[in-house]
Amino acid sequence: MIPTPDLSHLTAKDYDTVYEPAEDTFLLLDALEADEQQLKSLHPTISLEIGSGSGCVTSFIGKILGPSVLYLCTDINPHACRCTLSTGAQNDVALDAINGSFANPLSARLKHAVDIVLFNPPYVPTVPYEASAAQGARGIEGAWAGGLDGMSVTDVFLECVEELISDRGRFYLVAVAENNIPEIRERMRTRHGLQSEIVLSRRAGRERLSVLKFVRDPSMVRT
Ligand SMILES: C[S@@+](CC[C@H](N)C(=O)[O-])C[C@H]1O[C@@H](n2cnc3c(N)ncnc32)[C@H](O)[C@@H]1O
Repeated sequence: MIPTPDLSHLTAKDYDTVYEPAEDTFLLLDALEADEQQLKSLHPTISLEIGSGSGCVTSFIGKILGPSVLYLCTDINPHACRCTLSTGAQNDVALDAINGSFANPLSARLKHAVDIVLFNPPYVPTVPYEASAAQGARGIEGAWAGGLDGMSVTDVFLECVEELISDRGRFYLVAVAENNIPEIRERMRTRHGLQSEIVLSRRAGRERLSVLKFVRDPSMVRT
């Protein structure tokens, strides 16, 4: 069993501004642990986490895959980037945290180069204005406010993730039932040539959480 990263350096004050790891985070860790052998056999070179928050998830995958991988993280929240860096240091995982939206600061250089993409997005359904205001404010509300069907932030990323992943790449996404998981899977298959499976699902309070994994449809691997 891979231990949960040490977060003892983070304080209640940090969690006023940065998402505190919760059931969704831990479900993603469990999904990565379930895929441990598969991930190792990929021999990945680049891992990219969008919305790294505390840095718990990338520190965890860093423990699975070791120091030969380049670990990149982005977050719109500058406090989250600071916490991500300190969590990497606390857990001896060398990672880079970039303050920006999605993969925008990196996408030109990462085209079809990323072997592992991770995103636990703000997936909670809210009124649309709340999500766009939260994206602009770059604070704690941006951790959960997801707009219509909880999908307004995720949808933006779903349109560009195919451009990032390598031929052997995989993309792990956390979603809740309200996000309409069958529709997401069908859209990614037909529009972007990414097939998917549900790695894990779990009920947490009122939320029915799932981790989806997308890989390139073998018949559509670029030549
Ligand atoms: C549900 S939290 C997940 C945090 C962490 N990955 C975890 O699993 O505990 C969502 C994170 O996404 C970040 N975020 C929201 N919109 C973003 C965007 N457009 N680009 C990058 N990060 C974003 C938030 O600031 C927050 O840290």
